[in-house]
Amino acid sequence: MKSEQVLRNDKVLVFGGGSGIGKAIARRLLRENAGVTICGRSKEKLLAAKEELKSDDLFCLVGNIADVDSHEELFAKAETLMGGLSAFVNSAALGSGTLGRGYEPWDITSAEWDMMTDTDFKAAFFLMRNEVNYLIDRQCRGNILNIASNAACMDIIGSYGASKLSIIKWTRALGKRFGHKGIVINGIAPGATLTPMIAHYARTEDQPYPRHALERFIKPEEIAELAFYLMSNYGEIICGHTVVADAGDNAATL
Ligand SMILES: NC(=O)c1ccc[n+]([C@@H]2O[C@H](COP(=O)([O-])OP(=O)(O)OC[C@H]3O[C@@H](n4cnc5c(N)ncnc54)[C@H](OP(=O)(O)O)[C@@H]3O)[C@@H](O)[C@H]2O)c1
Repeated sequence: MKSEQVLRNDKVLVFGGGSGIGKAIARRLLRENAGVTICGRSKEKLLAAKEELKSDDLFCLVGNIADVDSHEELFAKAETLMGGLSAFVNSAALGSGTLGRGYEPWDITSAEWDMMTDTDFKAAFFLMRNEVNYLIDRQCRGNILNIASNAACMDIIGSYGASKLSIIKWTRALGKRFGHKGIVINGIAPGATLTPMIAHYARTEDQPYPRHALERFIKPEEIAELAFYLMSNYGEIICGHTVVADAGDNAATL
């Protein structure tokens, strides 16, 4: 007999939850009656998301993941806000539009490289590592969901794809290492998804996007549905893997 599909953990801290994919995941989790804390650098963005999502179970937390020494304090604050914390969604990142010149930063400065990698690479590692520590310390059979990117599967130059490939590798390594403690770590590698991150080239749902086999952009809600699956009781058999959800992107090489 089929059991009901439910979240494995219902107190979730969503980094990058103020917009785009993170916000869509927050919305999907709230539908499952989860307590959700959204975290990002901009208070205005978080409050706008709170206004839009209209839920008493949604909390806002200003924080910068690039300040890796602040992670534990952010976890403690989220725990207080929700009355518990047992799952993490890591959706915060700086993307192709951040430098205003796409994926091939031939003229990138060392300061720009540091800004990108401090968030997308260094913070992604420490966040995952600190979340695992948090769950182990509490003997919590928690969930960690990492938002990577199918940019990891492309021949692109610069830090973004390399950072996302690392996230896929850390997801696999940590997922396999801590699955026996009941900690389920998985990832999603989306293709081009209609969010502020790619607003410089993706504007509307009906805009054709021939690079994807489906010839359209992905909607954040579609990624959120997959996130719900991976964070549910059904999803735990996928442990240490990153699911590519790229609408058949022709630029992917793996
Ligand atoms: N959209 C796509 O086509 C696409 C494709 C593949 C993968 N992804 C990945 O999907 C995830 C979500 O991106 P998105 O498309 O939803 O873009 P987005 O709307 O720009 O969301 C990124 C979020 O991350 C937050 N953020 C950035 N730097 C941060 C930091 N240092 N500390 C805390 N929060 C920070 C931003 O909020 P603040 O500015 O307020 O900090 C923002 O809410 C990212 O990991 C991205 O790489 C996106």
